[in-house]
Amino acid sequence: MCSWRERWRCASVTLTLALALAAGLGAAAGAFAQPPAAAMKVAPATAAPKRAAKPEAGLEATFEGIGRAATAAELAAWDIDVRPDFKGLPPGRGSAARGQVLWDAKCANCHGVFGESNEFFAPLVGGTTDADIALGRVTRLTDEAYPARTTMMKLAHLSTLWDTIRRAMPWDAPKSLSDDDVYALTAYLLHLAGVLPETFVLGEHNVRQVQQRLPNRDGLTTQHGLWPGTGIGPLRGAPRGPDVRARACMTRCLPGEPHVASSLPAHARGLHGNLAEQNRRVGAQRGIDTRGP
Ligand code: HEC
Repeated sequence: MCSWRERWRCASVTLTLALALAAGLGAAAGAFAQPPAAAMKVAPATAAPKRAAKPEAGLEATFEGIGRAATAAELAAWDIDVRPDFKGLPPGRGSAARGQVLWDAKCANCHGVFGESNEFFAPLVGGTTDADIALGRVTRLTDEAYPARTTMMKLAHLSTLWDTIRRAMPWDAPKSLSDDDVYALTAYLLHLAGVLPETFVLGEHNVRQVQQRLPNRDGLTTQHGLWPGTGIGPLRGAPRGPDVRARACMTRCLPGEPHVASSLPAHARGLHGNLAEQNRRVGAQRGIDTRGP
């Protein structure tokens, strides 16, 4: 067991907050390096019997009096992820035509009639070409002159689009869509992007063929920073490569006391004026003058 004072013995606690305000894209993205799982385990006050951590069986005995095992129904309610190989995809189908009706009723007010987005949101559709569909890579992603990066430009896995819509949209009523609705809306968005014809019916039987038509299906890369990375070129001294380069460390990771903090990277300063002045004056505020170094 690790006491608070000796926590560095067990695990490094690294929290990196990378704040990327993409100039001109109107998009903000945050990346968090998670502390290692070991640091988050609940440690009983007295040493627990040494036992291989087996989920379910024996858990309740190990942590007697603390909680209970989740029921199969509870697990099923959480376990809704759809993976890139379509593991987890429920059966169903929906036409692009029905998707249009749903889109106009439930999505267009926020995302625009053609997925071009309205005032606030990054566009979902645009920036892809027939040549990209043939190639499997979106050429404009690396074109600095092109003004936006839409969802369709970046999408490498059909499952991501399907899963996002099912778990998170509409934003104000998540999980309110049926599986058939999600198929229909996915088909319609792909139709808007020129990937599928308007007569298309998307279902679990043809998702793999549709995956093979995604404009950026072969363009996924993790070797770049959120702040424009190697693909686009360095900006104001931003490091090339991923923003977060945490390595798992389980013992004597830091020489002294760990320092847990978040900070604005040097290359992000000065890009958006003084953020401290842009906070609403409600209650106590933290913030630094970000205009200079
Ligand atoms: C009330 C506004 C609102 C409505 C209505 C809404 N969305 Fe969204 N949508 C958002 C916001 C905000 C985001 C980005 C934040 C997020 O992902 O939670 C988003 C993100 C998305 C994304 C992911 C984009 C990306 O690149 O990560 C998809 C896909 C999407 N919406 C589809 C839909 C569909 C389909 C509907 C209708 C069923 C819908 N949205 C309705 C506000 C809305």
